[in-house]
Amino acid sequence: MALLKREEWQGFVRDVDWSYSYVDDEAVYPEWHSGTGKVPREAWLAWEESYKVSYPEYVATQREREAAAYAVKAALQRSSVWEGLDEGWKSATKMHFGGVSLSEYAAVLAELKMARFGLNGAWRNMAVFGQLDELRHTSITTFFGHEFISRDPQYDWTQKAFQTNDWVAISLRNLFDASLDELWEGDMTAVMVDGEPVLLVNVDGTIRAYSNQCPHQASALDQGDLDGETLTCATHLWEFNAVTGLGINPDDAALRSYGCQVGDDGTIYVDIGR
Ligand code: FES
Repeated sequence: MALLKREEWQGFVRDVDWSYSYVDDEAVYPEWHSGTGKVPREAWLAWEESYKVSYPEYVATQREREAAAYAVKAALQRSSVWEGLDEGWKSATKMHFGGVSLSEYAAVLAELKMARFGLNGAWRNMAVFGQLDELRHTSITTFFGHEFISRDPQYDWTQKAFQTNDWVAISLRNLFDASLDELWEGDMTAVMVDGEPVLLVNVDGTIRAYSNQCPHQASALDQGDLDGETLTCATHLWEFNAVTGLGINPDDAALRSYGCQVGDDGTIYVDIGR
């Protein structure tokens, strides 16, 4: 029996989807995970990969890349460039290997979220390949960093970056938790500041910070909806003006507001008054 060519079968399997009978769409794709409504569902369904790949093709490509990674590592073992490096450059490479592995690992989590909560089957399928890719990027940098431990024990930082409380690792982790690049206009996100739950909202490019507890019954406001300037609590639908923090419905309520500034590098600073 002749094997079908990829083009002959991939159109049927790349966006497998299902109809649910025990749960509804909101339960499967909750707004706070899937961003349901931000892009119309029809647009999601029309999405198509610009580059299609099947699992056997993906594995074959990764095998080649793995061979290339081993070749680079072998070249590193023979090279004497490292010995001549300035101490500053050596420090930069330690941070690079550890820092890149952290950021790639953050990308694994993001892609896994897309693989589960993406609103198109082909998108979810592609995200599975994406997270495998990011996982490899994570291990490749720790793999190269490991090579230098025999020359300088401080390279063990590359391996420890995930667990250590070193300030560089903490700042890298926080970079992904709350920076302006991650908080798009019309978006909101929850962060913890000194143990306080804080809601950051971006209305027309201006960031505001409020307590993330609804003044009604303390529900997390980031679970609600931000539509233009109107912030709606998900629990009992109280509405607030996200620019002023004042209640719309009821109008005698108000959000607890915090001082907030954005640094030149996009870092958001929140003053919770302690
Ligand atoms: S807890 Fe927010 S409206 Fe009730």
